[in-house]
Amino acid sequence: MTQTTMRIIKADNYDEMSQIAAEIFISKIKQKPDAVLGLATGSTPLGLYKNLIEDHQKNGTSYQQIHTVNLDEYIGLSKDNPNSYHSYMMNNLFKYLDIPQNHIHLPHGDAVDLLQECERYETIINDLGNVELQVLGIGKNGHIGFNEPGTPFSSKTHIIELKESTRQANARFFNHLDEVPKQAITMGISTIMKSKEIILLASGEAKAEATYKLIHGDLTEQLPASILKQHPAVTVIVDKEAASMLD
Ligand code: F6R
Repeated sequence: MTQTTMRIIKADNYDEMSQIAAEIFISKIKQKPDAVLGLATGSTPLGLYKNLIEDHQKNGTSYQQIHTVNLDEYIGLSKDNPNSYHSYMMNNLFKYLDIPQNHIHLPHGDAVDLLQECERYETIINDLGNVELQVLGIGKNGHIGFNEPGTPFSSKTHIIELKESTRQANARFFNHLDEVPKQAITMGISTIMKSKEIILLASGEAKAEATYKLIHGDLTEQLPASILKQHPAVTVIVDKEAASMLD
């Protein structure tokens, strides 16, 4: 068993988890109005984004100097495809904020030269001075970003073959499983680890086992999230269902 320095916060429910995460983001933005924020897609951060939008509208927290980098994007989907993570981010967050378009960064899933695109993306993150605060979800198989089990901890932004279980888990966003891309571009594990601070959110019973292994299991490339035990500033915020296997 590997000793963890991660801070664990048990929230009563999804809304409380989202609110706590939003408070951490908002205080970071207040403290550093030109921070680079690392963002995720999927179901888990939707409540966080809702809270950030509400705060922007009520309290005027500004994103004019903020830059964002997202974890990943499906290969083969153009920006405008409704299932692209570009579209997800526009529809669930960016269109409600005052962030300049050219401050928003996601990998281009329809790039002609995908290897070059991975390098371009890694360079963008380095040139921005790395991520100040990164939010992560966790896959049922322990993936972070789209770094599936077995991905080297040393990986930088790269192309990944999505596991069948990940495609099935994400099929709910598409009309049919066949439409779910088989590959994605994802920040690598070493890219994620360069973030100065990380918040991992886990919600629902489906994440209970991965959450348990993250906190109590070994450091192993078979559970990509386990690398977070070696990061000095990680906060894991879990709701009751995701925490159900913890003591
Ligand atoms: C999303 C991402 C993934 C998700 C994970 C959990 O950008 O990189 O790691 O965070 O698959 O997805 P949800 O939140 O839909 O359960």
